[in-house]
Amino acid sequence: MKQDFVLPSDTYLLNHSVGRPLKSAESHFKQSYLSPWQDSGREPWQAWLAVITEFQQALGRLFNSSPMQFCPQVNLSSGLTKLIMALPELNENSVVLMSAQDFPSMGFAVQKALPDGATIRYVPEHTDITQIDVWQQHLTADVDLVFVSQAYSNTGQVAPVNDIVKFAKANQTLSIIDVAQSAGVIPLDLTELDADFMIGSSVKWLCGGPGAAYLWLNQKHIERLVPKDVGWFSHENPFEFDIHHFAYHDSALKFWGGTPSVAPYAFASHSIDYFSKLGDKLRKHNQHLIDLLIQHLNEQVVSPHDRNHRSGTAIINPKMGVEAVMAECAQAGISLDARVHGLRVSPHVYNDESDIFKLVGIFR
Ligand SMILES: Cc1ncc(COP(=O)(O)O)c(C=O)c1O
Repeated sequence: MKQDFVLPSDTYLLNHSVGRPLKSAESHFKQSYLSPWQDSGREPWQAWLAVITEFQQALGRLFNSSPMQFCPQVNLSSGLTKLIMALPELNENSVVLMSAQDFPSMGFAVQKALPDGATIRYVPEHTDITQIDVWQQHLTADVDLVFVSQAYSNTGQVAPVNDIVKFAKANQTLSIIDVAQSAGVIPLDLTELDADFMIGSSVKWLCGGPGAAYLWLNQKHIERLVPKDVGWFSHENPFEFDIHHFAYHDSALKFWGGTPSVAPYAFASHSIDYFSKLGDKLRKHNQHLIDLLIQHLNEQVVSPHDRNHRSGTAIINPKMGVEAVMAECAQAGISLDARVHGLRVSPHVYNDESDIFKLVGIFR
């Protein structure tokens, strides 16, 4: 599949940050976004709104859910803020559980969106969040809402989302799943999972660029939730134009807002469609290349070695030091980055064994 993507001459392993664009992205963008605008004097909105429908449909295929349960969002933080502010069960006595390893922006959004007085508890940083009993210890009966990242980009761990959601449900705790680091690389079946909410983006493994995030709602919540942050596209009929009458859209689109952006969704829907047809090929290939890294670097790979507990990213703490490896990678034309626990290496479907051998060849 290498030939399907625009690849740099460098060995690109930064897919936990930004995935590479498809070669077909440019012509698809021209056809779905620019042509309706450039090529006629007619109103382009009809064609542009079809782009959003394609985005929802592609997500529906990827995550096995109805397209109408997805609402486009600019980014996860914004979707999360809108969602938390719309949850009637949250008040000054509420308790929210997250992990100290969640992406900081998620914590910022929750901190600011919660009603005054509500408490956030964090699963401590150095606990093994791949283990359900760790979550069970913290998911006490007083927790109203649990926020779980399916994959954690600084540790390369995955959370046992199915078990967490089951346990949360038994406690009447609402669940929000963050798939920013897992969408596309770790399969997720929303119908089977039956979580309450999910937020995600298209920028990393889905190779769809920034600005095309999404909020997913379990059908049982769509009717009852009344978002505060709305606009004419949250209306059941955006073109009614009666300032005295607002009626919520009857789908997840009630969380949409004012005039939507379209361009990011034109890129993303095309790319999500590509990955939705790959099944688990990306996951299998990614895991094979991570196995290879583990074979060669052994205990220097500090992210989980067990396939069930690891994400698409391997974290490497090199004996020769992070800075030395980064410097040699820059010389050799290998793109990766480093965070608190070490180097982050994320092999995609367009990477191959020779990329891994090139990287391990640097280690002494
Ligand atoms: C787990 C996780 N959640 C969320 C985000 C990004 O959130 P936002 O779209 O609000 O920038 C990232 C970005 O790297 C992430 O890794």
